[in-house]
Amino acid sequence: MLLDWVINMVRKMIWSGSVYFFVIMILGLILRWKMVASFLPQFQFVHLVHAHSHVAFLGWVFFILLAILLQFGLPESARESRQLKVFFYLVHLSVIGMLISFSLEGYAFFSILFSTIHIFLSYWFAYYFLKHQRKDLPSIARRFFKGSILFNLLSSFGPWGLAVLGAKGLATSPLGNVSIYLYLHLQYSGWFLFVIMGAAYMILHQKGIIYSESKAQIQFSIQFIGVIPSYITSILWYGLPTYLIWIGYIGAVFQFAGLILFLSSVWKLCLKQEANRLGKLLLNFSFLSLSAKALLELGGASPRLADMVFQNRQVILGYLHLTLLGFTSSFLLYYLYQMSAKQRSSLFSGAVYLYVFGATAMIILLFLAGLLQWIGFGQGPWIWEALFASSFIIFLGATFLLMSMQPSYSTLERESAVSYPGQ
Ligand code: HEM
Repeated sequence: MLLDWVINMVRKMIWSGSVYFFVIMILGLILRWKMVASFLPQFQFVHLVHAHSHVAFLGWVFFILLAILLQFGLPESARESRQLKVFFYLVHLSVIGMLISFSLEGYAFFSILFSTIHIFLSYWFAYYFLKHQRKDLPSIARRFFKGSILFNLLSSFGPWGLAVLGAKGLATSPLGNVSIYLYLHLQYSGWFLFVIMGAAYMILHQKGIIYSESKAQIQFSIQFIGVIPSYITSILWYGLPTYLIWIGYIGAVFQFAGLILFLSSVWKLCLKQEANRLGKLLLNFSFLSLSAKALLELGGASPRLADMVFQNRQVILGYLHLTLLGFTSSFLLYYLYQMSAKQRSSLFSGAVYLYVFGATAMIILLFLAGLLQWIGFGQGPWIWEALFASSFIIFLGATFLLMSMQPSYSTLERESAVSYPGQ
């Protein structure tokens, strides 16, 4: 009975995240549709972009990261608490509030109110998680999970900074972008990345796959040190003093080294523990996207290139979707896949191929659109139509994927009950 409730909480997080993934894909599709034809004119494009990105970070990714942290990082007693249940409903309230208010009015009173509630909820979760974190986790996972919580807390300086600037009428100044980039960087290169890395080590640990503990500890240290200074390389366009630029370069090298070390020690082992070729495909796609992200970040550390990238919205969007769809979302889908039953519906294999194909096409098309802009070649309507088509393929693939996995989370009880370490 108790276990049922406990697992229910992880399952509730998984279901919640999955619903928000579906919602952001619909919003993404509407946005792409608006770029090829007049559609839903009563909703402003920019308002829907804000709804899409906020629900993506604070609904889809947030809930699945919570599921991972709960499943691997908290003892039964902490997973069953009433406080966590209240927290769960309040997070829904803030995400649904953001979805509606951003879609209708963009940045305004209610959307800011609901986003602020989410920040305070994540502060509470940080306190709760650190207070109750399991002591018997492998130390590498414990360190990554703690690090992730720290970066999630620090990322909130971005919105607070933006609020201060807004009060002075400077929200749309370059300093406003400095705050937004701080938030984005600490979210996906800190909070998201560190939970995922901790989860990858936990999956290996649970499957009894031996990895080099000392290499993993070195990787953690390098990765951790690199996060904050490497932020500087995402604001090189701001015109910073030379010494700060050098700190940024050093951070970028640390970040790159950390990612390479992670990929070189974990990629092969993750594939080894995964028997299914479709599971392998999701993992390969996620880690390949992470490798491309690492290379781009190293290249983007050159001020000239950084300036060109900053001026080119399509390249920024290509980089963001490579990181958030290619790497982060694909790994989270892999986690969901791991949590679902082994006997999956026939929808599953077609869905994985559609998702991977659509996401690859969308990311390549976004970079291509940016490239065409750079070389002064006009972007014909075909590129926006192709982007819409690729978005539709992702939508189909990911929806079938989520549908084919959902009914089988009922086996989570059985699987998790035997696989929690030390339980
Ligand atoms: C089917 C999948 C997706 C589609 C079709 C899609 C589409 C779009 C579109 C059309 C835009 C705005 C483009 C513009 O301003 O010109 C956008 C922006 C964005 N998307 Fe997505 N997206 C998808 C998945 C995701 C996912 C999974 C995430 C995060 C986990 C994400 C995060 C973002 C962010 C952060 C922005 C930038 C927002 C801004 O600049 O304010 N997207 N997306």
